[in-house]
Amino acid sequence: MSVLVLGGAGYIGSHAVYQLMEEGQDVVVVDNLETGHQDAIHPEATFYQGDIREITFLREVFKKESIDAVIHFAANSLVGESMDKPLKYFDNNVHGTQVLLKVMVEHDVKYIVFSSTAAIYGEPETVPITELMPTIPTNAYGETKLTMEKLIKWTSQAHGISYTSLRYFNVAGAKQSAVIGEDHRPETHLVPIILQAALEKRESITIFGEDYDTPDGTCIRDYVHVDDLISAHLLALDYLKNGGKSDIFNLGSSQGFSVKEMIDVARKVTGKKIPAVIGPRRTGDPSTLIASSGKARQILGWRPKRTFIQQIMEDAWRWHSTHSDGYKSDVNEK
Ligand code: UFG
Repeated sequence: MSVLVLGGAGYIGSHAVYQLMEEGQDVVVVDNLETGHQDAIHPEATFYQGDIREITFLREVFKKESIDAVIHFAANSLVGESMDKPLKYFDNNVHGTQVLLKVMVEHDVKYIVFSSTAAIYGEPETVPITELMPTIPTNAYGETKLTMEKLIKWTSQAHGISYTSLRYFNVAGAKQSAVIGEDHRPETHLVPIILQAALEKRESITIFGEDYDTPDGTCIRDYVHVDDLISAHLLALDYLKNGGKSDIFNLGSSQGFSVKEMIDVARKVTGKKIPAVIGPRRTGDPSTLIASSGKARQILGWRPKRTFIQQIMEDAWRWHSTHSDGYKSDVNEK
């Protein structure tokens, strides 16, 4: 039996594929390579290039392979873009998930681990954020992920599928061996942007606002190592297969770092100056997002290992400094 990883050529999906393969599991990858990279796909995974909205394509994959579980990362995930192009996000994210669920029901596939996001909480009233707090997204991306969660919940209930929705905070870092890493085009994420500035691939990093209600005035986020994040997915899969009930879990480190602190960490790790300038706030940015991940620790037995922010930055730097232009296979470059 195989695990189907949708979006397995993306940053987080590719790390999932590598960990599953290291565990000795059979892995099937589906990716349309719109934002994913061919070079990020594990060479020994079975790969199908295609779009999950294409029901004939997806049916074919489920027919050919014996899939017993799905890990679903296939989605657009840029907050800013989602505000300009909400229909693109609803179509790819929500409609794509609807097609997937239909095919899962047709093929009687009973387990799904879903890649959700802290963006569904919007601007929280208090931190740390628990899974019971209100979900009021402040952007279209978060709204699509919340809708996807609901689609999965109701379909699961009707068709006996078990699911976990994993709500990620700020995922960063890369595989320690630097075989895969983070490469978005365009890049909008803080850690890669800081490291591109360290490599002088950009002149400076612009800090989006220094007038937030935080100790140094810059936004605070909870950074979690991508490999720790993925280990929670593998635990979630075991949990479901062992009869665990469908549930929602936050995944973060439960520690917050400001944008300025992150730049300082990067300066120490890289030994580079990393020029920073202050710019205006970015629309839709909440000031502080910190997870309570107690539930994942308690129920899934999650034990993140690379929890020091320096380790996260070091692993990210190892990949960036050895791949200063990112992945070579740029069929997806726009
Ligand atoms: N930032 C800058 N300058 C930059 C880029 C980012 O100051 O050039 C700041 C942002 O304003 C924010 C912080 O760095 O305060 C982190 O920004 P990212 O874009 O790296 O991450 P976000 O917190 O905006 O979003 C990330 C994921 C989302 C997810 C969210 C959940 O990209 O998909 O975490 O917390 F929904």
